[in-house]
Amino acid sequence: MDYSVHVQRLHAQRPAIAPSMLKCDFGDLAGDLRRLDEGQAPVIHWDVMDGHFVPNLSYGAMVIERNRARTKTLFDAHLMVSDPAKYLDEYVKAGCELITFHIEAVPDPVPLLRRIRQSGCGAGIALNPKTSVEAIRGAVGECDLVLVMSVEPGFGGQSFIPSALEKVREVRRTFGKEVLISIDGGIGTKTIASAAEAGADVFVAGSAIFDQPDYRTAINELRQLAEQGRRGAH
Ligand code: DX5
Ligand code: ZN
Repeated sequence: MDYSVHVQRLHAQRPAIAPSMLKCDFGDLAGDLRRLDEGQAPVIHWDVMDGHFVPNLSYGAMVIERNRARTKTLFDAHLMVSDPAKYLDEYVKAGCELITFHIEAVPDPVPLLRRIRQSGCGAGIALNPKTSVEAIRGAVGECDLVLVMSVEPGFGGQSFIPSALEKVREVRRTFGKEVLISIDGGIGTKTIASAAEAGADVFVAGSAIFDQPDYRTAINELRQLAEQGRRGAH
């Protein structure tokens, strides 16, 4: 399938709450995916960590692939790995519709972004809090999603870094209105509205969903706050 079909599907579901599967119940992935479906999460955010690009290890393509058939929801792989080009095909084969890698791992991102699109997936580029928007300027017109990290990658449950808001605005100015902007880290009821007001479209949330007793209620509340934030921006 053409990558743009998946990208349009995510566009149509903005503001999109993306549960971060770093904070899920790894002992009951099937149950968690069912609960997220009931909560109508539009996209599942899979945090892949290699213990090298970040000081933590999570899971790889095998785990994603084994869970693909459990839901029709879009899968976005957030690759926090040092050599995403080496493993790209595995994530395509696992059934991800969007694949996001870090500029800090791949300073010349265009060839890999093109490979992702040619594989039929939406292409995303992520940047860490200390990385400037200038570093990803070469990706303008070559990617479908920009993932702005609002914590240092590696762990869930960290505090939101407020300077990410200005970065979201700068990404919007640089990449234009078509690109999807995702924000990841410390997103919850206290921070999501300001992120939406700054122009984010996709809101990755780990603790704010999985630490709550009812995922559907948590997702709905986050979506409503994001909608309020977007209205505030207009
Ligand atoms: C951090 C990951 C995030 C993280 C978000 O490296 O990319 O997706 O799990 O978790 P919270 O929402 O708890 O900050
Ligand atoms: Zn993430």
